[in-house]
Amino acid sequence: MSSLIAVHSFRGGTGKSNSCANIATILAQEGRRVAVVDADIQSPGVHVIFGVDAAGAVHSLNDYLWGRCAIADAAQDVTPALNGTATGKIFLIPSSIDPNQIARVIRDGYDVGLLTEGFRALISDLSLDALIIDTHPGLNEETLLSIAMADVLAIILRPDQQDYEGTSVTVRVARKLGVPRMRLIVNKTPAVFDRDHVRAEVETAYDCEVAAVLPHSDEMMALSSRDIFSLRYPDHPISTLYRTVAHSLVE
Ligand SMILES: Nc1ncnc2c1ncn2[C@@H]1O[C@H](COP(=O)(O)OP(=O)(O)O)[C@@H](O)[C@H]1O
Ligand SMILES: [Mg+2]
Repeated sequence: MSSLIAVHSFRGGTGKSNSCANIATILAQEGRRVAVVDADIQSPGVHVIFGVDAAGAVHSLNDYLWGRCAIADAAQDVTPALNGTATGKIFLIPSSIDPNQIARVIRDGYDVGLLTEGFRALISDLSLDALIIDTHPGLNEETLLSIAMADVLAIILRPDQQDYEGTSVTVRVARKLGVPRMRLIVNKTPAVFDRDHVRAEVETAYDCEVAAVLPHSDEMMALSSRDIFSLRYPDHPISTLYRTVAHSLVE
């Protein structure tokens, strides 16, 4: 069965896009057909991690939302970015990086119903095992829709009081929307924190399973979204944790 996995955080810069790219990579390396949709239309970025020039894309998610193409026409096969390590496939549906197109979304909006139709079409047209949605931080219309449609919602947070408060908002909304499965991912945990303690606290506070507590990593910062971390550093503890996360989302 295919799963729609929405990856969300209440605040930006939490690690959504890097998590999406790594989770997709791990699933494709295990033979699955996966797509990542950049639904962060206001501040796109996951294409960078796959080394894709969004300006050079023939079609983007924006074109689909404005009726200029079918959603599958905006899908790019980025499997070659995995340097031959994948037995499955990864497709990327980038969002436009053109300032006029971003401004148009903010100014004119679009028919959000098309987004849900598009997700369903992608799963069937590309015969996907998993569709990963990289959402915009906070709660806007497309994020609410993505959460409402999701089979699994992954919520990323840092051990930070602002993130804690915001995450409780998302968790409450997701429960109201009846999301079947929810997992928390704590990211950028300072080395001075006891990660088991953080896990226990977060799990108790939200009454929700924590898939993993990832440490802050200088290597990750230094890679600076230039590549897929788990591909570059397959033996790094963070790559192991990304694998744990990926498996908890598709189990
Ligand atoms: N565990 C981590 N340790 C250190 N830096 C991280 C970690 N996870 C993500 N980052 C960095 O944080 C920044 C924001 O990550 P990104 O995935 O773009 O977040 P988002 O999509 O939520 O805005 C990037 O520079 C990324 O390399
Ligand atoms: Mg992002």
